[in-house]
Amino acid sequence: MKRKVAVIGVGMVKVDHHWSESLRSLFTKAALNALEDAGIPKVEALYVGNMSAGQFNNQENIAPLLADSLGFNSIPSIRVEEGCSSGAAALYMGLKDVASGMHDIVMVGGVEKMMDTTTNDATFIISTVTDQEYEAFTGLSLAGINAMVMRLYMKRFGVKRESFAKFVVQMHDNASKNPYAQFPFKISLEKALNSVPVADPIHLMDCAPIGDGAAALILCPADKAKEFVSDCVEIAGAWKANDTFLFHMRKDFLTLKATVEASRNAYEMAKITPEDIDVAEVHDSFSIAGFLAIEDLGFARKGEAWKAVEEGLISLEGEIPINPSGGLKARGHPIGATGIYQAAEIVLQLRGEAGKRQVPDAQVGITHNTSGFGTSAIVHVFKAK
Ligand code: COA
Repeated sequence: MKRKVAVIGVGMVKVDHHWSESLRSLFTKAALNALEDAGIPKVEALYVGNMSAGQFNNQENIAPLLADSLGFNSIPSIRVEEGCSSGAAALYMGLKDVASGMHDIVMVGGVEKMMDTTTNDATFIISTVTDQEYEAFTGLSLAGINAMVMRLYMKRFGVKRESFAKFVVQMHDNASKNPYAQFPFKISLEKALNSVPVADPIHLMDCAPIGDGAAALILCPADKAKEFVSDCVEIAGAWKANDTFLFHMRKDFLTLKATVEASRNAYEMAKITPEDIDVAEVHDSFSIAGFLAIEDLGFARKGEAWKAVEEGLISLEGEIPINPSGGLKARGHPIGATGIYQAAEIVLQLRGEAGKRQVPDAQVGITHNTSGFGTSAIVHVFKAK
């Protein structure tokens, strides 16, 4: 990176069913929170992640719409679409903008308003991130792909559904301490195990929910950050990698190659190894996706994420706390906003402002946001300054 970049403001709204908000009002609230947090009135550019406002809300051309709603209609505003990782992709673009020296103060955000549709329609819209010609047109949903992978994983490594359910219980435990979470309550192991089947062996509690949400960050050059805030967080590494778009072309269905490559390069850029990471927000759209992320980001050996879960390593006090926010599973997964919620959580953690879910003395954190079934992955590395 030509110059170092810091996050000086974060803003979120609670992930929820926001019946009385529009796409515009939801994002505007998160963006105003981020501006207030940074103590600034305006920005020079806006990047906004969103997967499918056209299909969810009949609204395209949303970047100028959202900039106008904030009173910034003269700044460059760009929508970034990268399926389920649209939020992280917006951050990636905003980071490049500030690092290159083109702009100094940039807002990156994400918004998705999914509850205006039925679950059936939402399932179809979400499936458009997979291959239409070979996969989605057959009726295969993301839950369906994850179910096949979970069954294979359970067979190959001899892992039982109980281990996945324990991961889910931990996510709800964390979310119970997060005021921005869609499901801020604990659940029992029995509830996680006995919820209704969605696509066997995936049950309701293995799935991220459908929800409405928006989040925003303010970026600026690291050497100017102290002009605005006392505690800033540097973005020390970032990488995006892709895998085969077609799931059946993968050499190994149980390794997310894009995640392995994105994390390796982002860690190298930030000069860290997985052992240096104090806290991680990973893409657990389904419990099996959470397991693969834990392994492919370097926190456990292949087939051994269950051990990290069962030994408590991923808990808030553990060796590698995973998803203190509650993750996609329980904080929620308003798709195009998720990558920004993850980054906002890591910034709060590294500022020591995460309240009851604070990971003790967190100095280095990462975010991991994927699209499709690991078709692409974006990893960002954050360091407290
Ligand atoms: N986790 C926990 N609770 C959930 C939940 C989830 N994923 N989804 C719904 N619930 C709860 C609801 O709050 C509701 O509780 P209540 O009865 O106390 O109000 C109850 O379960 C029924 O909710 P409902 O909205 O009727 O569920 P649904 O059957 O319409 O949807 C899923 C459930 C799992 C099908 C839906 O959440 C889904 O499709 N998730 C996957 C989304 C996805 O693929 N995301 C992209 C991944 S990259």
